[in-house]
Amino acid sequence: MQHQSHILTFGKILKGSTIKNKTDCLPLGNLTTCSTADGSISLHSSYFKERFHCCSGARKEAEEKFIAPAQIERFSTKKAVNVLDVCVGLGYNIGCLIEALDITNTTLNWWGLEIDRRPLNIALKNPNFNSSWSAEVKNILNSIDISGKWENSNSKGEILWGDAREKIFVLPKTIKFDLIMLDAFSPAKCPQLWTEEFLSELSKKLAKGGRLITFCRSAAIRGSLKRSGLKLASIIPIQSEGKEWSSGTVGFCTTTTDLKMQDRNPHWKLLSDMEEEHLLTNAAIPYRDQNWISTPKEIIRRRKEEQQQSELESTSSWRRRWRKAQSD
Ligand SMILES: C[S@@+](CC[C@H](N)C(=O)[O-])C[C@H]1O[C@@H](n2cnc3c(N)ncnc32)[C@H](O)[C@@H]1O
Repeated sequence: MQHQSHILTFGKILKGSTIKNKTDCLPLGNLTTCSTADGSISLHSSYFKERFHCCSGARKEAEEKFIAPAQIERFSTKKAVNVLDVCVGLGYNIGCLIEALDITNTTLNWWGLEIDRRPLNIALKNPNFNSSWSAEVKNILNSIDISGKWENSNSKGEILWGDAREKIFVLPKTIKFDLIMLDAFSPAKCPQLWTEEFLSELSKKLAKGGRLITFCRSAAIRGSLKRSGLKLASIIPIQSEGKEWSSGTVGFCTTTTDLKMQDRNPHWKLLSDMEEEHLLTNAAIPYRDQNWISTPKEIIRRRKEEQQQSELESTSSWRRRWRKAQSD
């Protein structure tokens, strides 16, 4: 079946291009290519009814929300660095990571989880996308697209295609990750990758001193990460994000070194009192998927029911209280 995909600029259709797909049976439905404000391309999924990245920039988002708070300068060149990229999509997070790392002097061991092969494949056919990367990154992304693997003198990577809820158990049991980048669609659209169970399993895969980084700042997700034993920090919004109070979350499999770093880094800070209190509201009730096969609807319905029965403070009351405190 052939489907028209449209090129969008900030939501406006500019012109059509054709992508071959069987959208009815593919996990993301129809994919539409969009451009973002930093000139990088992104996609929109008709199934999830959501864009892959924010309008201000797909590449910018990878650099600011994932690579900067990862503080890769902390990686030693003497030891292999293990990275898990959950929801690889077009490959911006791995691409930006490799551009930022001194790959000739670093031993990188990368694993990716992704359900749909099309985003990377569509991206690699786009001249803008291709020309934005170094030869090194282009080779790696092409190799992942063609064979699911890459290897060079120091480093190697492998993507496990399929539902991350299954594939997480296919990852070698002995690997502990120094960095996990969790870039699923929003919890409201893709709750199955934000459940207490999935987040706990991801957290167990962190090495001592490792970081789990996500753009998500929701109380439900932070609560699950905290119960999984991680220390939490808030990603500091960059100025262009205006009045935003957080750009995401870093979960630390903590060591004293990490805690000491809090005073001297521009990327994240420990949770404010307001954010800590958010975790005590009914917004912090987690998404649950105890049998690991629940549908998004079931997960959302269960959480709603739990929230209705809960006596925790509502998020609107928490918000009102803090607005008042800030205006006083
Ligand atoms: C927000 S996009 C990721 C963007 C990506 N990090 C990038 O740099 O382009 C979310 C991705 O999650 C993938 N996804 C959705 N459900 C999934 C699942 N159950 N298991 C694995 N991947 C999934 C989608 O195919 C999509 O590529």
